[in-house]
Amino acid sequence: MSYERENIRRMAGYVYGEQPADPAVIKLNTNENPYPPSPAVREALAAFDVDTLRRYPPATADPLRGEFAEQLGVEMDNVVAANGGDEALRLALATFVDPGATLGLAEPAYSLMPVLGAAQDCRMRTVPLDADWKPPTDTAKRLNDAGAKLTCLVNPHAPSGVLLDADFVSTLASALDGVLLVDEAYVDFVNPNRRHNLAPLVVAHPNLLLLRTLSKGYALAGLRVGFLIGDAALIAPVLTKTRDSYNVDAIAQAVAAAALRDRRYAAELCARVRAERGRLAANLRSRGFAVPDSEANFLLARTPNAATLQTGLRKRGILVRHFDTPRLRDCLRVTVGAPNENNALVAALDELAASP
Ligand SMILES: Cc1ncc(COP(=O)(O)O)c(C=O)c1O
Repeated sequence: MSYERENIRRMAGYVYGEQPADPAVIKLNTNENPYPPSPAVREALAAFDVDTLRRYPPATADPLRGEFAEQLGVEMDNVVAANGGDEALRLALATFVDPGATLGLAEPAYSLMPVLGAAQDCRMRTVPLDADWKPPTDTAKRLNDAGAKLTCLVNPHAPSGVLLDADFVSTLASALDGVLLVDEAYVDFVNPNRRHNLAPLVVAHPNLLLLRTLSKGYALAGLRVGFLIGDAALIAPVLTKTRDSYNVDAIAQAVAAAALRDRRYAAELCARVRAERGRLAANLRSRGFAVPDSEANFLLARTPNAATLQTGLRKRGILVRHFDTPRLRDCLRVTVGAPNENNALVAALDELAASP
């Protein structure tokens, strides 16, 4: 006998990227930042008064979301803080998609989304991205016809790294009947020359939600801090109803605020990752891999023998991601690492190409 709800019993759980205990393993599989977080993070941790842990943290994380809102040029009411981007996604589903209602996904989607959708017991309507990894022109019509209450788009897209500009997002938000959630987990790696900034759009679009995280650009995946940004009327139910009462702990709030205040450091990290992204993409392309231009901290490398290469790299202590789905079967998703890690990857690929 099972005590689980029927939909929970039926669903499969999320498959995590491997986190090996051995520090010698080169981890290019979970899109973490290869560099350490800001020195301000260490200082904030050292200065943290442990005695204050007997008290609850600021419930709505006002000092933290105030800092973040100011940096984005929006009001504090436009921001809610969460226990990582993943919690932000779950909160968006719990708030905007009734059980049995439809969740729209541009496919391939972040692989956690169908899991969260199944846990919320909603229907999933997917729209396959076109050959350039962009949503087709009739995306809004298809999702409106399906009655999608919320549609999720990853931008820059994972796993391709392809970026949709603000005009595209604005047009899609206007055309959709439901909420458009743009998952900007990797936005900190976008080349600043593109002047890409979706935050001003939340003022014009009452149905647009943006997701941000400190896990990637700020090198704080272990801290678990993310945000939703949107019209105050979209944010209010998350802030006051569906969120756990103290969803971001006191240490995370203090450390995240310190990291945000040192955003110049994060910008430098992202610039280093971008430089390596360009170098690694060139190295992979010159070896015959097809690699779309990426604005994220990973590259999607197409090659006919992707699964075999992943296994071969693994044996050499290098982890990359392979998704066994029809669209991605012949691709490897490679996180951009530090220069020595990327060099080791390219050398291992050369070795594998030379071996029978
Ligand atoms: C597309 C996408 N969205 C959101 C997240 C959530 O990140 P976190 O929960 O670490 O903030 C990730 C993490 O890998 C991701 O790849």
